[in-house]
Parts: sequence; C-alpha cells; structure tokens
Amino acid sequence: MSLETSTTVPPTVTWSALDIAKALGSPPPTPEQQAIIEGPLESTLVVAGAGSGKTETMASRVLWLVANGLVRPDQILGLTFTRKAALELATRLTSKLRALDGVIDHEDLDIVGVAPVVSTYHAYAGRLVSEHGLRKGIEPGSRLLSEAASWQLAHEVVHSYTGEMSQVTGADSTIVEAVLRLSGEMAEHLQDAESIMEWLSSAADQLAAVPPGKTDKSLGQKRAPR
Ligand SMILES: Nc1ncnc2c1ncn2[C@@H]1O[C@H](COP(=O)(O)OP(=O)(O)OP(=O)(O)O)[C@@H](O)[C@H]1O
Ligand SMILES: [Mg+2]
Repeated sequence: MSLETSTTVPPTVTWSALDIAKALGSPPPTPEQQAIIEGPLESTLVVAGAGSGKTETMASRVLWLVANGLVRPDQILGLTFTRKAALELATRLTSKLRALDGVIDHEDLDIVGVAPVVSTYHAYAGRLVSEHGLRKGIEPGSRLLSEAASWQLAHEVVHSYTGEMSQVTGADSTIVEAVLRLSGEMAEHLQDAESIMEWLSSAADQLAAVPPGKTDKSLGQKRAPR
C-alpha cells in the first residue's frame, strides 16, 4: 500500500489522517479537520457549526489515535448532549474501527475486542453514580430521577410549601418549572440553598442602596419641559 505522509504529523506517527481515509476509502479530511485529528494529546476546544463535520472529525480522531497505537479503543470516552448524537458517534466509530481492523496489522492491539464508551453526559453521570456512588455514601440502588419524576417531586414541594408566597403570582406549573430550573442551575454550579439566599440578600442590599434613577421618560420631560 502506498501511503502519503502529512507534514503536520509528528515523526513517531506512522498513519496520517490522510493515510487512514485513503485506506478506508473515506473522503479525505479538510485541512481544518486534519489539524484536529492529528492534534497533540491534550485538551482541545473545537467550535464548529451544525453539519460541519464534527462527528466525522471525532470519529477520525479516535481512529488516528488507535491506528498509531497512541490509545486503545477501550481508553476512549465519547460524551455528547443528545442521545441521537451519541448513537451517531457510536455507530460511526464502530464501523470505522471495524474497517481499520481490516487494513491495519497491530499484533498487540485488539481494535474491535473492547469498544469505546460512547454515551450522553447524563447517562454517563448516572452510570458513575450507580457504579461508584457507594464511595460517596450513595446507596447502590440509587437512580437519577427521570424528567417526569423530577417534575412530580417539584410539584409536591411547591404544593406542600406553607411559607410566605404573597409575592409569587405565577400559575402552579410556572412555579414548578422555576423551581426545577433553579434546582438544575444550583446543581450545575454546585451551590446550595444557603449560598443562594446569601447572594440574593447581598444583591438586594446593593440594589436598595442605589439612588433612584431617571427613566427615559423623565429625562425627556426634563429636556423639554412643558
Ligand atoms: N472531509 C469530508 N469530506 C466529505 N464529507 C464529509 C467530510 N467531513 C464530513 N463529511 C460528511 O458531512 C456530513 C456531515 O458530517 P457530520 O455528521 O460529521 O457533521 P456534524 O457537524 O456532526 O453534524 P450535526 O451538527 O448534524 O451533528 C456527513 O455526511 C459526513 O460524512
Ligand atoms: Mg454530529
């Protein structure tokens, strides 16, 4: 097989992204894709629009790493936001790894034996909790709440709340949604109710200390008094 060698590939690497595409009969990566596929073994942020070839690039990056013996397939973790994207990435990865297995001969590397883990962030987090939660004192049978179950729980919390609510005028469902949104934001930013209350009261104090401003209307009236 004749192999092209890309100038961007470090000397220890034997398979360039172009070599792999050629061997597998896939369209060659664009120069931008090639730079990502053959990038160094470190964190990289790639910003690309819808349909621009992100999944293809991720799959090719894995293939390049595996083909050059830099990682094994079972050391790959692919996480996406949606189940559809996870399925697409897993499908493309599996078929490309199978094809790679047919063209590459690595004695000490099992390319298709152990598949990479591809999942959504949420599903993977759920798996981590059920497999390793015990280390943090979480019961092994614990499950993450589904969306419907979270809604039900928030609904119960809102309905059983007996504190001051005179300033809250929204419909029940709006309040439940607000509670869920707040709870989600608190979880994502690792904040508890106490720290939120502290922040809110200091923000309220700051606002109260600001002298009343002039509205556009009052400014306009000043400029053109009757
Ligand atoms: N270098 C390339 N040459 C030819 N076709 C390509 C190339 N890169 C990607 N494609 C094709 O372009 C299409 C879109 O690619 P891909 O699905 O990877 O994009 P995406 O950014 O993940 O899309 P989405 O935003 O929908 O997830 C696919 O059919 C893919 O095979
Ligand atoms: Mg995609």
